[in-house]
Amino acid sequence: MSDTQQINDVISLERVGEIALICIDNPPVNASAQPVREGLIAAVEAANADDAVKVLAIYAAGRTFVAGADIREFGKPPLTPSLPDTINTIEASAKPVISAPHGTALGGGLEICMGTHARVGVKGLRVGLPEINLGLLPGAGGTQRGPRLMGMKNTLDMSLTGKMVPGETAADWGLIDRIDEGEPRDVALKAAQDVLDGTLKTRVTSELPVEVDQEALDDARAMVAKKMPFLASAPKVIEAVERSTGDVKEGMAFERECFMDLLQNAASTRGMIHAFFSERAVAKVPEAGATPREIKKIGVIGGGTMGSGIATSALNSGLDVRMIEISDEALQRGISTVTKNLEGAVKRGKSTQEKMEAALARFTPTTNMDDLGDVDLVIEAVFEDMDVKKDIFTNLDRICKEGAILASNTSYLDVNEIASVTKRPEDVIGLHFFSPAHIMRLLEVVVANKTAPEVVATGFALAKKMKKIGVRAGVCDGFIGNRILAYYGKTAGYLMEDGASPEQIDTALENFGFAMGPFKVGDLAGLDIGWANRKRMAPNRPNEERYVRIHDKICEEGMYGRKTGKGFYIYDEGDIRPNPEALKIIDDERAAKGITPKDFSDQDIVDRYMTAMISEAARVVEEGIALRPIDVDAVFLFGYGFPRFRGGPLKYADEIGAKEIVRRIEEYAKDDSYYWKVPAILARMAEDGTTFEDLNKEG
Ligand code: 3HC
Repeated sequence: MSDTQQINDVISLERVGEIALICIDNPPVNASAQPVREGLIAAVEAANADDAVKVLAIYAAGRTFVAGADIREFGKPPLTPSLPDTINTIEASAKPVISAPHGTALGGGLEICMGTHARVGVKGLRVGLPEINLGLLPGAGGTQRGPRLMGMKNTLDMSLTGKMVPGETAADWGLIDRIDEGEPRDVALKAAQDVLDGTLKTRVTSELPVEVDQEALDDARAMVAKKMPFLASAPKVIEAVERSTGDVKEGMAFERECFMDLLQNAASTRGMIHAFFSERAVAKVPEAGATPREIKKIGVIGGGTMGSGIATSALNSGLDVRMIEISDEALQRGISTVTKNLEGAVKRGKSTQEKMEAALARFTPTTNMDDLGDVDLVIEAVFEDMDVKKDIFTNLDRICKEGAILASNTSYLDVNEIASVTKRPEDVIGLHFFSPAHIMRLLEVVVANKTAPEVVATGFALAKKMKKIGVRAGVCDGFIGNRILAYYGKTAGYLMEDGASPEQIDTALENFGFAMGPFKVGDLAGLDIGWANRKRMAPNRPNEERYVRIHDKICEEGMYGRKTGKGFYIYDEGDIRPNPEALKIIDDERAAKGITPKDFSDQDIVDRYMTAMISEAARVVEEGIALRPIDVDAVFLFGYGFPRFRGGPLKYADEIGAKEIVRRIEEYAKDDSYYWKVPAILARMAEDGTTFEDLNKEG
């Protein structure tokens, strides 16, 4: 006998004999939004009031169990009942409650499971406490019940890395009682029956003892100090877990207080939440409704670092790849780079030998461009020379089948001009990958004037297939990222010429949160790359623009950075130190220009650098090169190592406020009114008190 009662829109209660099945159905990911919490309490109470019911089982409909608290509720006034209260009600149920999670049980979802009296996972389950990725700590008992079920070490690992672990591993740890195969409802029903039969034991998690694991606590503290110094939530995780040995109510109160405090007051939490949404927001483009073309076979022209990286990434995502090089020798180099990339993934545990062999079986290197006749999409990744690219696209237009997409991986050249040499400009698009392309997640999808909507949609579908984050960009020199970089990069040069050392600038920016300062990045990428670009731009450089010659002079001495052992720094078997020859060039240039070195504070450095980045980013938004401010943020987060906890340059701008940014630009402009100009959009925002986030909301 079974009867089902709809508790509210998202929770139903079904009675099957002595079992009450509580189903959560809140698409898309069953987030524990207010109606879920309210409905769960009502269902538990109703089942407890029903004399026929002996055991309760919670499961979920759809693709996953509860993927966590509803992130859209964050930042708004808290709605009752809270998730901790909901879970406490479940745990306090007089009748045993079990859970049968499937898909992913994350954050608050896993905490619901922890509060039930037994947990049977559905095969394929993955569990995790990803709150740290949002700059939070588990806020519904995870730091208190976690150690009681799986020990301090596993709780710390899970909540500090935010990584998901397979249900089977969670079962080994004691977090999950066992894994069963079947539909979630059937697994829930069977597990509940096992409780009735006495074959599945139930326990009240809060009543279990916790063993202190001092080594795990110490290791976690050392790791956080070294790797996560900027995240306000990380030390809180450790503190909360440490308190789990005490009274559970006090531990939970402490955990909740930290959670609410971070949510309301921590800039790093706001930044991390913004970064989470940026990853998803960028897919919302005007062309999203168009039907993507089917892509199975792609061509990659060029087997250099970039082309090989793109080929590797495409092979890893299951595509057939044809790589074209100009000579057998160059082709061999490409093959060897692709093979090394694939082997590297196996070594790092990211892939397996079988997957690698399957990928290589789909790889066809050739020196004959005519072999591209049947591919669905071609990505040209040769060096940045417009004439060479035009030549390639003229040939592709002749060779490629009708409907094939012709893409350029150019970093800054005009995609309209490239498209103009073909008879099918609607099929031409920019797909700008970031090096190393098999690792970096950003893909700028550059939409030229005549690019067809379904070609744009295909660019985004390809990004998704390759597990990349596609960001729509308009055509201009450098698109979103490199254009902004070219602008603020000059500030680093000005600061250096005016008195700060490369090391001081790098350190100030690393302390701000960048993994590497701009001079170290330049040395790593190769100073000759920027040099070539500056030579290209030289004929168009306005006379009024201040030009710092230091980088060029360093290059003229054959010092290109890491690859030559010297650049701004000297690289000596793992040891890095400032290069005295570079420092001398800096001194000489200052003397030649009659500059008396100024004493910049680290804050001055960060302020000027960030203000420059924000100014150009604002112009990129104003001109529609980026659809919204959040698109610029995503570009910097996923392609330029921008500190995630700051959410992106324009999220950071909102933290400072447009008024202050305008004030700074006006102040800096006193020395260089050509470079420092207030973008109209910022002036408007300062005037009417609006933010970039307001523009994000407008879409
Ligand atoms: N709250 C609100 N919306 C959420 C959400 C959440 N927790 N998780 C996902 N969504 C939304 C996404 O924004 C997206 O919406 P859109 O379609 O409108 O853009 C939709 O659900 C689908 O998400 P994905 O595109 O990410 O789908 P995937 O299948 O690729 O991934 C997932 C599914 C693995 C569940 C992934 O969405 C995910 O990792 N979600 C975040 C999980 C998380 O961080 N949970 C912890 C929340 S904090 C918490 O629980 C606090 C507690 O301790 C008190």
